[in-house]
Amino acid sequence: MSLFVILGLLVCIQAQGTIETPVFVLKGRDLLLKLHADPPEGFIYVDWKINKTVTLVRFDSSGKAAVTGRFELGENKFSVILKNLQEVDSGVYSAVAATSTEDKLVSEYKVTVQGPVSPVELTVDPVDSSSSESCDLHVTCRTHNSHISSTFRCVDRVCSQEGGERSEVTTSGASLQVYLLNTVIICNHSNQVHWTQDFDTTAYLCPSKPELPSVFLVKMVVFSVGLIIMVSAVITVHLVDFKKHQERNGGQTPHAALEESSHLKVTF
Ligand SMILES: *[C@@H]1O[C@H](CO)[C@@H](O)[C@H](O)[C@H]1NC(C)=O
Repeated sequence: MSLFVILGLLVCIQAQGTIETPVFVLKGRDLLLKLHADPPEGFIYVDWKINKTVTLVRFDSSGKAAVTGRFELGENKFSVILKNLQEVDSGVYSAVAATSTEDKLVSEYKVTVQGPVSPVELTVDPVDSSSSESCDLHVTCRTHNSHISSTFRCVDRVCSQEGGERSEVTTSGASLQVYLLNTVIICNHSNQVHWTQDFDTTAYLCPSKPELPSVFLVKMVVFSVGLIIMVSAVITVHLVDFKKHQERNGGQTPHAALEESSHLKVTF
């Protein structure tokens, strides 16, 4: 059974003679089409066809061809260069060599012409979160005809994307993505031939939160009250000391007593 399938596949490939090559081209560029195999013995001509129906150019067996329209002959025999490709030129381009008995496919390209993608814009808005240890970011990746949004949660400056990487295919067939690379949020718009990007770093978007003002205030008050109590205690002790001195020394001048008092203050 499986042998039959393999044989069948071999026959198919042989009959086709070639495998379709996918090619993506940026709009406005040129494309060289050449033969993937030699034409069979005794061939009469080689045709390049579009979508298997329209003949683009016919080469005779010596390799001569009449060139018209938007293409040139390539350096290699039987090759052509398509000039200034546009989206409408997308299609299957195949070279068929004709003998007196059969047509043989000798080359085939599936050509897709794509325009450049439009620029993108990334916007990042921090979201007020109830939790004090995490910082949430609401991110939107926008292009002219579509957008995707995503949420990032950062704890201790380490961010992660909720639900993982986001991506979407736009109406023009391009891909719009938003993802995190280390500490950078990247918004990417791409097709097979062109891409645009915008990015932002999470580092400064999620600063570590400052202490709540009320806590700071309480600390200040406690500290101030403590300081006042200590200072009053020192003054009281000195006053008591000063009085005792006065009583003991009787005739001492107030000046000398004051000097002693200030000396005591300094040692404290
Ligand atoms: C070839 O066929 C495809 C699909 O049928 C079509 O979109 C495309 O325009 C055709 N290409 C040309 C050059 O006519």
